[in-house]
Amino acid sequence: MSRLNQQNNGENTALNRRKLLEFLSASPILAPGAISAVAGFLAAGTSGALAQSYDVLRQAPVMDGDLIANPAQALNVFDFEAVAKKALPPAHYGYLASGVDGDETLKANREGFEKIAIRARRLIDVRKIDTTVKIFGETWGSPIALAPISSQGAFHPEAEGAVARACKAKNHQMILSTVGSTSIEDVIKERGSPVWYMLYPTDDWAVTEALVKRAEKAGAPAIVLTVDRQGGRNTETLFRERRSDTRTCTDCHTPGFKNEVSRKPMFDDLDVSKVTNLYGTGMTWDYVKRLRGIVKGKLVLKGIVTHEDAKKALEYGVDALIVSNHGGRAEESLQSTIGVLPEIVSAVNGKVPVLIDGGFRRGTDVIKALALGATAVCVGRPYAWGLAAFGQPGVEMVLTLMQREFETIMRQVGATKIAEINAASVSRA
Ligand SMILES: Cc1cc2nc3c(=O)[nH]c(=O)nc-3n(C[C@H](O)[C@H](O)[C@H](O)COP(=O)(O)O)c2cc1C
Repeated sequence: MSRLNQQNNGENTALNRRKLLEFLSASPILAPGAISAVAGFLAAGTSGALAQSYDVLRQAPVMDGDLIANPAQALNVFDFEAVAKKALPPAHYGYLASGVDGDETLKANREGFEKIAIRARRLIDVRKIDTTVKIFGETWGSPIALAPISSQGAFHPEAEGAVARACKAKNHQMILSTVGSTSIEDVIKERGSPVWYMLYPTDDWAVTEALVKRAEKAGAPAIVLTVDRQGGRNTETLFRERRSDTRTCTDCHTPGFKNEVSRKPMFDDLDVSKVTNLYGTGMTWDYVKRLRGIVKGKLVLKGIVTHEDAKKALEYGVDALIVSNHGGRAEESLQSTIGVLPEIVSAVNGKVPVLIDGGFRRGTDVIKALALGATAVCVGRPYAWGLAAFGQPGVEMVLTLMQREFETIMRQVGATKIAEINAASVSRA
C-alpha cells in the first residue's frame, strides 16, 4: 500500500468512527451513558492491535480547534490536558495542575526522565510479551497503577466510579484517597475487585482506626499512609487560577477542616468533632508503629524520598514503599522522584516492593523506573485529565496509550516479561 493510501486508510478509519458516534448520539434509542460506553469501546479498539501496526489507525482528521474531540483522536496523554483545562472551571483546573511555590519540583519530575536513555536490543522475538507483575500475591495485568487523587467529583460527576470502571476494563490497579468523592465500597463495586486505600491520618486516633477498619472490611488489601503532607504547602498555581474563577467557592465548599470531610463519604457517620486536621497532625514513626498494630493487611508508606527513611520504614515493618513527592505538590525540593529512586531501591535491597510516582506520562518513563528497580509505577494527573475531558472513556484511553507505549518500548529493549527489564535496559543520557 502506498504511503498516501495508508494515510487515507487511517483517516477513513477515524472518520468512520466519528460518523458512527455522531449517528449514535442522534439516535433516540440510545441513552447518553450507552453512547459514551460505545465511544470508550471504539477508543479502546486500537489497543488490541500489535504495537508495531497501530500507527495507521492514529490519524485524527476532525478536531475541535486544536483540541481532540473524542478519546480516539488522542496521540498521547498530553492531548487530554488541554481538553480538561477547557472543560473545568479555573479553580478546579488549578487544583489539578498545581505544584507548590514555582512548580519547579513538578517540572523536575518530568526532567528527571530526560537524564536517562534507553538501550534497545535487537534480534529477540518479542511478538508475545507479558506485562504482568505480582504484588502482595496479587497479579496485576500491568505495572501501571493509578495514584490516589482526591475530590474527583471536581473533575467529573461520575468521579472515582468512572475511574474504577476504566480500571476494570483495562485491568489496572488503583488507590482510592481518603478524601475521594466516592466511598471505598462503591469504588470496589465498580472496579469489580479490591482496590488499595490511601489514608490521611487525622489527629483523632478513633477516626483513623475507623477509616482503616472500614477500608479493610470493604476488602482493601493494602493501606497506604501518605506521609508527605505534614509541612503545609503553597499551591501558587491553584491560587492564581482561582482568581479568574467567577463562581462563589463557598456555594459548595465550607471553609477550613470541615471542607475536607463534609462532602467526603469516607467520613460519613464518623464523629469528627475532635479532629482539627488531616495533614499537620504531628505524625512520627511512633504513629507508623501504632498503625502497624491495627492494619491487618499490608501497610504501605507513600511519600518516601530518601534512603534514610526507606531503611527506617523497613525497621517499622512496612510492607512496601511508594517513592513520591505528591506530584510536586508537597515540598519544593527540585528533586525528581526518578532521580531518588536508585538510593531507595538500594536501601530496600529487594526486601519489599518499591513503587514510584511523579511525572509518569510515557511508556518510556515506565520502563526507566522498572529498569532502575521499581516494582510498579503510579500515574496521577493524566488519568484525571482523561476523566475531566471525557469521563470513563477518557480514562480508558489514557491507560490504553500508556500501556501501548510501554509495550512498544518493552519490545524494543528486547524484554518479553517484566523481569527481563533491568539495569542494562537504560544508560545515562
Ligand atoms: C489533584 C491531585 C490530588 C491528589 N490527592 C492526593 C491524595 O488525596 N492523597 C495522596 O496520597 N496523593 C494525592 N495526590 C498525589 C498523587 O497521588 C501522586 O503522588 C501524583 O499525582 C503523581 O504525580 P503526577 O500527577 O505527576 O503523575 C494528588 C495529586 C493531584 C494532582
